[in-house]
Amino acid sequence: MAHNMTHASVNCPKENFGDRFHLSEATLQKFDREIAKYPAGQRRSAVMACLALAQEEIGWLPPEAIEAVAGYLRIPPIAAFEVATFYNLYDLKPVGKYKLTVCTNLPCALSGAYHAAEYVKQKLGIGFNETTPDGKFTLVEGECMGACGDAPVMLVNNRHMCSYMTPEKIDQLLEGCE
Ligand code: FES
Repeated sequence: MAHNMTHASVNCPKENFGDRFHLSEATLQKFDREIAKYPAGQRRSAVMACLALAQEEIGWLPPEAIEAVAGYLRIPPIAAFEVATFYNLYDLKPVGKYKLTVCTNLPCALSGAYHAAEYVKQKLGIGFNETTPDGKFTLVEGECMGACGDAPVMLVNNRHMCSYMTPEKIDQLLEGCE
């Protein structure tokens, strides 16, 4: 898992964007690839991707990491904080190895999202915005994921979409998380 990546601290000029925090060279190279997708002078356009990459390395986004991303993109820290605090894709506090996001917007709610969420809560013994004591699962409530027709839907680690989450499918999902 990405959470287990080593935080290699490297001494290269590229890293001179903050004294307090270091991202791995591999992550910085990925930053560069994202920045290269935009015209020169538009580094700031890569902010969402770079925040996601920083989170992938660390497992969540501490303020220092957000500042580091801002520094690397040469934008004011507040601009990166605005993005990081706006989207629930970004975790501003540590989460479990598996972050389960249950969409509870209206279309999903009408198709069993709350039942699905309740089932997960009972199985894991946690509520929304809580993490199991073993650090394995975090449960959060999410906004529409654009898959309303597949409701109820859940997202695992911000990426893996799970559709039609019946209790049986939730059981399978949780059992598959090692
Ligand atoms: S309302 Fe849940 S995916 Fe759209």
